Amino acid sequence: MLDWIEPLEFAPLDCFRRVSVAEMFPDRPEAPLELDLGCGDGGFLLAMARQHPERNFLGVERLLGRVRKVCRRAWRSEISNVRLLRLETSYTVNWLLPREAFTRIHLLFPDPWPKKKHEERRLVTPQFVRAAADLLVPGGEILFKSDHPSYFAEAAALLRAEPAFVETDWGPDAFPYFETDFERRWKAEGKPIQGLRLVLATRGMSAASRS
Ligand SMILES: C[S@@+](CC[C@H](N)C(=O)[O-])C[C@H]1O[C@@H](n2cnc3c(N)ncnc32)[C@H](O)[C@@H]1O
Repeated sequence: MLDWIEPLEFAPLDCFRRVSVAEMFPDRPEAPLELDLGCGDGGFLLAMARQHPERNFLGVERLLGRVRKVCRRAWRSEISNVRLLRLETSYTVNWLLPREAFTRIHLLFPDPWPKKKHEERRLVTPQFVRAAADLLVPGGEILFKSDHPSYFAEAAALLRAEPAFVETDWGPDAFPYFETDFERRWKAEGKPIQGLRLVLATRGMSAASRS
């Protein structure tokens, strides 16, 4: 059971149970489902949702003001294939979201936390990578971008170390992909943007055997 805070925003009522796709998208749970982690003001999320009405999109973001802004923008534009969850990403990925449910995970410009003393706040850890692989359907993919070279190198190494993932070409013409709000900001400042695309080929150690 979910608590619907706004028509597009929900919170889990039971934090010890995974939510189901049917709870989040009761109208059409069978549609391909994409996940935007740290969706910010939702520019990317809403552009993708508008471009792909045949898919469902879930945005996760911890800041209340940003979540409400995305909801307002979606509501005004009559975008109905989006849901918002205001929650911490690691917990959400590790414990809350349904396994083998997502065709894509977008991990776009997560905070790099470059200082040594903030290292434990970084999102991409070995546990996160395993949990993210568990959320994907076979053939699903994770798309990661960063403007921070050393953070990109570190997070990319952890993602590439997951044996279930196969790195795949991600050229500019691979498929329509919108710039995010932060991407535009970093590009204007002349920062280099790096990206990584990994496809879930095998499941390795199964989700069930880890639960
Ligand atoms: C640098 S911004 C990128 C936003 C968006 N992806 C973009 O590219 O425009 C990082 C976003 O992740 C959110 N965030 C950071 N840590 C988070 C966490 N642990 N759980 C959920 N959201 C988080 C921040 O509030 C912020 O909106």
